[in-house]
Amino acid sequence: MSVKFAVLGHGVVGSGVVELFYKNKESIEKRAGTEMELKYILDLRDFPDTPYADKFTKDFNDILNDDEVTAVCECMGGLEPAFTFVKSCLEKGKSVSTSNKELVAEKGDILLAIAKEKNCNFFFEASVGGAIPIIRPLHKCLAANEINEVAGILNGTTNFILTKMYNDNMAFDDALKLAQQLGYAEKDPTADVEGYDACRKICIISSLVYGKHVYPKSVFTKGISQIDLNDVQVADSMGYAIKLIANVKKLENGKILPCVMPMLVSHDNIISSVSDVFNAVLVDGDAVDKTMFYGRGAGKFPTASAVVGDLIDSVKHKVTVFSQSWESSEDDSFIESVDNFKAKWYVREAGKTPYITDNELTFAEAQKLSAEAVIPVLA
Ligand code: HSE
Repeated sequence: MSVKFAVLGHGVVGSGVVELFYKNKESIEKRAGTEMELKYILDLRDFPDTPYADKFTKDFNDILNDDEVTAVCECMGGLEPAFTFVKSCLEKGKSVSTSNKELVAEKGDILLAIAKEKNCNFFFEASVGGAIPIIRPLHKCLAANEINEVAGILNGTTNFILTKMYNDNMAFDDALKLAQQLGYAEKDPTADVEGYDACRKICIISSLVYGKHVYPKSVFTKGISQIDLNDVQVADSMGYAIKLIANVKKLENGKILPCVMPMLVSHDNIISSVSDVFNAVLVDGDAVDKTMFYGRGAGKFPTASAVVGDLIDSVKHKVTVFSQSWESSEDDSFIESVDNFKAKWYVREAGKTPYITDNELTFAEAQKLSAEAVIPVLA
């Protein structure tokens, strides 16, 4: 008997999931150990010209109330109705694989608890780093480590924009438009440009690694909208690239410090050469030292690859995977204030040659400098 599944949303990622499933159906079924059937696609729009037009429904209840459907891929994005739909599926014991960063960053603890109670799975490999395997490595392959730090480029759109601006002299708006055409950007690209998307991703990583839910509102976030191309060029001449970096560190006082900011990254650091839509995540563990994960961070098939990988896993695993889980957090006192974030800083003051501070300063100290631009240097 075949395992039946549904796909919620037929946008960039959802259509990628469906196409990838049919393209590689034979090998996917071999890996899942069973035949699989796509029974429904939920979308309010009509797609009469697709070869699977008969699968579409506009009514979520068709999926929810069909006991044959045991797995669901959520690719709608946004908090609602995705949260209500995913919660209802998990409550009925249907495993869910999602690419929805906002959903996991805001509601992951609640959904993981329901999956545990109903002995099914809530998987979200696609929510961080697109195609890059990072969620499983963190809670499986690297599970023996104490993780000191995770840092990286977690937003493909901003990295694409910075690369096009710097390498091709493309104007910011043109680069953004191109990223949207290529299906990289969020529906509202403010989430990319202002760093909210990268923030959601570092929240997911922080929650998974440190075991307590980290909410986006607790994480200092600054995007690339105020980055001056001139600073990018000056930084380059000093031996650095400017990248939007999301990172989280475990501090000596036991707290964690997650944040998202544009940072100067030395040309000696492999992250500085990560360009276009590519993402890179550096994990520093006490046993492994530094480990790097790299790949396409956005786009139709790279993201669909991670969703379908999760789908296969949920078909194979009939019981909850406990390691991919974290607790709810009543307060955020385990999160250090960004004021205590320490780094060397690139400083541009009026009438002076830009320089990098000799010593580390805290974020609070750096903000007090009477400068036109202060940008931290990634250690
Ligand atoms: N807008 C996101 C990005 C999509 O550019 O990285 C992938 O999460």
